[in-house]
Amino acid sequence: LSHEDQNMLEAHEWLMKLYHHLLKHTKEGKDGLEYLKKRGISDETIDQFQLGFAPDIENFTASFLEKKGFSLQSMIKAGLLADHRENKYIDKFHGRVIFPIRNHQGKTVAFGGRMIYQGEPKYLNSPETGIFHKGNVFYNFDLARHAIRKSGEAVLFEGYMDVISASQAGIDNGIASLGTSLTESQARLLRRYADRVVICYDADSAGIEATRKAANILQNAGCYVKIAQLKQGMDPDDYIKKYGGDSFRDHVIGASITYMTFYLDYLKRDYNLQIESESMQYIERALDEIAKLRKPFEIDHYLNELGDRFDISKEALQQEIAYRRRKFD
Ligand code: UTP
Ligand code: MN
Ligand code: MN
Ligand code: MN
Ligand code: MN
Repeated sequence: LSHEDQNMLEAHEWLMKLYHHLLKHTKEGKDGLEYLKKRGISDETIDQFQLGFAPDIENFTASFLEKKGFSLQSMIKAGLLADHRENKYIDKFHGRVIFPIRNHQGKTVAFGGRMIYQGEPKYLNSPETGIFHKGNVFYNFDLARHAIRKSGEAVLFEGYMDVISASQAGIDNGIASLGTSLTESQARLLRRYADRVVICYDADSAGIEATRKAANILQNAGCYVKIAQLKQGMDPDDYIKKYGGDSFRDHVIGASITYMTFYLDYLKRDYNLQIESESMQYIERALDEIAKLRKPFEIDHYLNELGDRFDISKEALQQEIAYRRRKFD
């Protein structure tokens, strides 16, 4: 670990504790606490996730870091302060509820911050630094890894609040891929702990697109992928707030479907299957996706379904798969 990285780790550790303390015990943190309470977050959960609040005072963090002896220039590099204007160093996260992002050893290496007042963007995340490589880390992996290994299954969410709400609902194997789309490196890491991944992204167009990408990456890494579906427009946290944690466990996570069933259904939106030429296009697209499956029995299963639905021989469909797979190699 370089001196600079060590320094950054120390700053994150101090700020994590400061923001957590401010949230729980001070008038500077009152707005943040009220915000989390309104969202149904318990005191226990606040402790478990070490949630915090960065007061809406622009120089609060800079003064604190200076008192602790940190060079403020290096704190800009760490992504904790913004460029100084007129000799002022501004807290990047001021006015935000703080979600400490820990690496797999449990060390805080970055922050996510949710604005609770007027202002953009809604979420701000630390930049890539020497101690934070987004593409290699999952949010909550350090707490969830035992449950993931034990059950052989991980639940992959989009957002911090989804992981946290799900955890309150008793789902202790939930992680999030940190805003950016899932990377191959994250998928390889996850595969070491889990055979199965349930993707539970938001039910909006961005979430559905991200689901498809993540599912392909996870399948290529050798994971068996399921999809948990929500009503259009909802996210897991919305659902839990509206219908409760038990319902989420039983009727969303518990009712997850295979990725291919999800995809074949999703694809139907693009085609009118009453029209022959559109049916043919649908079949082409479906075969493209089925050919990506790894396990022969899975391919066989979906070819049977497709064959029955469109009255096509198994032999013809198998030829199509063989043709596509030759193109991959
Ligand atoms: P969402 O917008 O779905 O977040 O983004 P959310 O958790 O549902 O938000 P609220 O608090 O309930 O309204 C999902 C994730 O994408 C990243 C964050 O990691 C967020 O948790 N994100 C989102 C950003 O990085 N920046 C943004 O402006 C928005
Ligand atoms: Mn401001
Ligand atoms: Mn979203
Ligand atoms: Mn969301
Ligand atoms: Mn949400």
